[in-house]
Amino acid sequence: MTSKSVTRPGRQPGDRAPRAAISAKTLRTDRWWIAPLLTFAGLSAWVIYATVRVFMHKWYWVEQYHYLTPFYSPCVTDRCVEGASHFGQWLPSWWIIPEAAFTLPFLLLFRLTCYYYRKAYYRSFWLSPPACAVPDNHSGYTGETRFPLVGQNLHRYFFYAAVAISLINTWDAILAFNTADGFGFGLGNLILLGNVVMLWAYTVSCHSCRHIIGGRLKHFSAHPVRYRAWTFVSKLNVRHMQLAWITLATLAITDFYVMALAAGWFSDLRFIN
Ligand code: FES
Repeated sequence: MTSKSVTRPGRQPGDRAPRAAISAKTLRTDRWWIAPLLTFAGLSAWVIYATVRVFMHKWYWVEQYHYLTPFYSPCVTDRCVEGASHFGQWLPSWWIIPEAAFTLPFLLLFRLTCYYYRKAYYRSFWLSPPACAVPDNHSGYTGETRFPLVGQNLHRYFFYAAVAISLINTWDAILAFNTADGFGFGLGNLILLGNVVMLWAYTVSCHSCRHIIGGRLKHFSAHPVRYRAWTFVSKLNVRHMQLAWITLATLAITDFYVMALAAGWFSDLRFIN
């Protein structure tokens, strides 16, 4: 039996159906506004904390245990403490220049163009739209096809920068086992390591990473190694949103712990040396 298209009276084939005339803003009766509100509060709190910390220019390095906060890594201004400058000091120390001015812009752009964060701030900051089936107040929609949002397509390149920065953070975590008195291991090491593991999980779960590893292949059977890697990345990829939030938390916790030790608010819990 073949199906025939039915044209209603007054409409020509191919005409778009008019939208239902509903005067209500939305027909949703659940508390749809909670998710964007929490997202707005969480992201705002993190950005305020990070901004304050980055421009403090102090309490980023624990000399005794060689802990360096990820917010100041790599420390490349000529104001950096000698031991914290693993990659030289080649930027001037104006207050407006963060100690990690070489990497922070790339990290910011990596997160800003992340597929998950885009959804998060489009909904919670721009209310465009604030939730499914809740219209926004914008009259037009151009997607991400025009400046500046077309720049979101650069995300794949920021991914490579994020991999390099994760390597630097990993190096910092390894160096922290070499204390002023030789090999040592404390709660700070666990926190630095946990942060690095989570950063790698978030970075590897990136949609661009998944495409780089398994995309544009016609036959997975001819590429068993890439297929295995793609399967692993895909498992992380479904947790990308959770990892995005977890890494915000681990970054803030790591930075706060290093700041507290450097400021002398409390001492590191040491297991060895
Ligand atoms: S999609 Fe989120 S980091 Fe790439």
